[in-house]
Amino acid sequence: MQEVIFSGMRPTGRLQLGNLFGALKNWVELQNQGHRCFYCIVDWHAMTTAYDDPREIKENTREILIDWLSAGLDPEKSVIFRQSAVKEHAELHLLFSMFTPLSWLERCPTYKDQIQQIDRTDLRTYGFLGYPLLQTADILLYRGTAVPVGEDQAPHIEMAREVARRFNFLYGRVFPEPKTFLNEYKLIPGLDGRKMSKSYGNTIHMSADPEEVQEKVRLMVTDPQRIRKTDPGDPEVCTVYRFRQIFDQADGEEFARRCRLGMVGCVECKGNLAGKMQQTLAPLHEKRQMLKKDPGLLEDVLQDGAQRAREVARETMEEVRLVMGLE
Ligand code: TRP
Ligand code: SF4
Repeated sequence: MQEVIFSGMRPTGRLQLGNLFGALKNWVELQNQGHRCFYCIVDWHAMTTAYDDPREIKENTREILIDWLSAGLDPEKSVIFRQSAVKEHAELHLLFSMFTPLSWLERCPTYKDQIQQIDRTDLRTYGFLGYPLLQTADILLYRGTAVPVGEDQAPHIEMAREVARRFNFLYGRVFPEPKTFLNEYKLIPGLDGRKMSKSYGNTIHMSADPEEVQEKVRLMVTDPQRIRKTDPGDPEVCTVYRFRQIFDQADGEEFARRCRLGMVGCVECKGNLAGKMQQTLAPLHEKRQMLKKDPGLLEDVLQDGAQRAREVARETMEEVRLVMGLE
């Protein structure tokens, strides 16, 4: 069945390997399966937490677009655009706000978490409370039927379903209830084996060039019990092995076996992994170099995407205004 896929990312900086394997690869697959895909750079969502310094959002939008295109999102197949270029997102958000109970927003687990975690910026704002409702408007504006996201976003998609149901009940059936497509998640650890996170300084950008890859692999934490290369090692506690399970499925087990027998040194093992990672990332690199040579192209992609998104958004809004008695 053909789905209408909608998903988005906030432009908050260069993407990490985790974004590539946790989200983008799934997005590209859905696109290539022939679904109708809308992929949105949600700059207004980025503003909810960066309202005190929004200047970087524009540059980050360019960066994220390069990351997306290099990973294989194709503007011929998918509608790729910037949220703030389609003002209908704001109108639908406003109309939804009229009948959305405050309690739905206040009880949202992501709201409670973030308010506690982020203390750099005061998030007790109207905009931040409404974040999941804006996300709901994003999806329903295109009558999205499926939303590929990570598990942390599932409560937001649940809210989108509730809002769709309430709207349809109050005014008449306009919206489908979108399903959550959980991203098939390949957990990418940080260099030190902890969760990959900017705040731990243990990340790898998906745009890392060959030298950067080599340096990051050099920093990876290995089996700490191993001192000489003839000591038997335990790949299960080694970050290099965990990366190998993603980047080197062909020879991964062979290296693990030799490690256990003390037949390979960590320097050689790391050198080999770095080579495999460079190979995997090489096509992305090539694409990135091409995009950099043609600065007008990025703007064209966004303009064209916005135009196509607007057409759909306009149609939905006409129907919404009609059933709500505004027109
Ligand atoms: N909240 C999402 C995130 O932080 C980003 C987002 C905004 C989104 N609007 C969306 C995701 C609509 C899916 C659908 O990852
Ligand atoms: Fe890790 Fe490879 Fe060293 Fe074994 S040989 S501890 S798998 S880096």
